[in-house]
Amino acid sequence: MSLFKRSRFTALFVLLFVIQLSAQKLPNIVILATGGTIAGAAETNVQAGYSSGQVGVDILIKAVPELKKIAKIKGEQVSNIGSQEMNDKVWLKLAKRINELAKKDDVDGIVVTHGTDTMEETAYFLNLVVKTKKPVVLTGSMRPSTALSADGPLNIFNAVAVACDINAWDRGVLVVANDKILGARDFIKTSSTDVETFKSPGFGWIGTVHYGVARYYRKPFTKYTYQTEFSVDRIKKLPKVAIIYMYSNNNGELIEDAVEDGYEGIVVAGVGNGNMTKAAEKALAKAAKKGIVCVRASRVPTGYIDRNVEINDDKLGFVASYQLNPQRARVLLKVALLKTKDTKTIQKYFAEY
Ligand code: DGL
Repeated sequence: MSLFKRSRFTALFVLLFVIQLSAQKLPNIVILATGGTIAGAAETNVQAGYSSGQVGVDILIKAVPELKKIAKIKGEQVSNIGSQEMNDKVWLKLAKRINELAKKDDVDGIVVTHGTDTMEETAYFLNLVVKTKKPVVLTGSMRPSTALSADGPLNIFNAVAVACDINAWDRGVLVVANDKILGARDFIKTSSTDVETFKSPGFGWIGTVHYGVARYYRKPFTKYTYQTEFSVDRIKKLPKVAIIYMYSNNNGELIEDAVEDGYEGIVVAGVGNGNMTKAAEKALAKAAKKGIVCVRASRVPTGYIDRNVEINDDKLGFVASYQLNPQRARVLLKVALLKTKDTKTIQKYFAEY
């Protein structure tokens, strides 16, 4: 073989070796898909109506070819539902799968694609029960995959970039959407239509991520993931906990119904500082006397629900939700009831988690 041919062959070999090496250096990220608008589809690309959970994880990944430059991706379809249909069965399957994957040396981070309607609850549930310091990052979208200027593909790219980032380790479960990095415990869906729907009023973002470049402002200040005392490893079923929305002239009947229907916990989305009508308070006190754990939260989006402000929690045996909104108070109560019904211990959980 001539010198020229030999040197060309050598150059090609070195090039292939370098490509192989750089591919090996890329982090291994697993994308677990559950459905949602990000996997939604519509007849045309400029209409409001669409169906969630129509597109599979492989198509979601194919829609973002740039992922190949930042990570080695594997996709798994956990479910394919609108997140208004999210349920305990999928939660347990998702949490157990994340814990399995997180133990593997060849998994560096996990991304979960999910609907935005109940992402608050799923993210917070995972924040309480997954056991890893590795990044677990949820993302979704407000426009379906078929929409003009769909927001899903860039959200997936940014979520994977954060999941690849060593600086995202040990920050609890994160949510990435619209260039923001948010904390699982405190973000809320603030708009039913805006692309910038996720905000953390009173707490602020964990950070930002702009075309894959992440910057961080803070770490969560309460216990998360590997720091918690909660585990779902051997759990097949979660306790039933209801949220009762409070309003003027409420007569307490819905609370009585929840008691009759066998709920183990009741969260009241109260007015103001977790307040309610006298009739509702009476019904809730009766429920507490029967051993149902009752939590006062508030329909007001920010602030702090403290004990014994206008309602005597000490006397009536209620728990105050402190900083947790009703939907997160329900998640924590479901997980807490796996361990105890003691209201003093559960009140401590609301301060710690
Ligand atoms: N069907 C809703 C859901 O899956 C749409 C909201 C969304 O994903 O943006 O949560």
